[in-house]
Amino acid sequence: MLVAEIEVSASYNVETTSHATTVSEAQLLDTQRAFDSVAADYDGPRGNNELIQRMRLTLWNTVRSELPAGSRLLDLGCGTGIDAVEFASQGYRVVASDWSPRMVERTHARAEAAGMQARVEAMHVGVHQLDRLEGGFDGIYSNFGPLNCAPELGDVATQCARLLRPGGKLVFSVIGRMCPWELGYYTVKRRIRRAFVRTARGATAVGMNRHTIWTYYYSPREFYRAFAQHFALDGYRALSLFMPPPYLVEYYRRHRGGCEWLGRLDDRIGAWPWLRDMGDHFLIVMYRR
Ligand SMILES: C[S@@+](CC[C@H](N)C(=O)[O-])C[C@H]1O[C@@H](n2cnc3c(N)ncnc32)[C@H](O)[C@@H]1O
Repeated sequence: MLVAEIEVSASYNVETTSHATTVSEAQLLDTQRAFDSVAADYDGPRGNNELIQRMRLTLWNTVRSELPAGSRLLDLGCGTGIDAVEFASQGYRVVASDWSPRMVERTHARAEAAGMQARVEAMHVGVHQLDRLEGGFDGIYSNFGPLNCAPELGDVATQCARLLRPGGKLVFSVIGRMCPWELGYYTVKRRIRRAFVRTARGATAVGMNRHTIWTYYYSPREFYRAFAQHFALDGYRALSLFMPPPYLVEYYRRHRGGCEWLGRLDDRIGAWPWLRDMGDHFLIVMYRR
């Protein structure tokens, strides 16, 4: 088992890593405890700073452009329900699912506070338990890496195919393998293991709040391969390729003007071939064959 000291990653605060080939029941519970432990303050800088909000907006716009208001959506790994309540307020009906009971409670409370409880159903269901859900969805989305925690991505794909109507859409934001900012930042700091953490094969133990999140990293091509049997690829794009990743938000605040310019570059050319294979996350859109 490889163990390295790590500080921060994608939308998690990463403290340490180690690796395993498959995720066991015990490891799924590690991940659940990790997210339970941060649910209370996940809407703050940890889970929703300016850079996260920027990426969030790209997913919102993509879902809105792919699926008309009134559609029935499934949110995989809904967290505190920011996306679910946003879509509900625009006329969508959302089943918001998560493996962390504390996150599900937060989603339920958010929907109630917004008067959206008729349109948001919060359910304690992991992405590895989708056989528990009834189908008939028009679209399924997942934001900021819940699918990086799925023990068997192929099983998720099969369940998504069952749950979606033909022609239905998938819109996922996924933690990618190749983040130039991360490579550069940690290489300059001479923290080479940290710089290359996303190259790991199999599940990587990522420390957060003294707990462990078992995480798989994917390139867009690797990710799509798991879905290709049931889904056609609509397209994918980089998220936060030129813009720094969310954990460098202090750098962003010190260089806001320049970073905003980089963000516009992401918006303009982040879907170009080759560039779209990089970035902190990638946003991928597929449709049911
Ligand atoms: C980085 S957070 C993102 C939350 C939310 N989608 C957002 O945009 O704020 C990752 C979420 O994935 C959930 N998660 C982790 N493993 C999961 C699993 N196996 N099944 C479903 N959700 C999971 C966590 O509980 C957490 O809420």
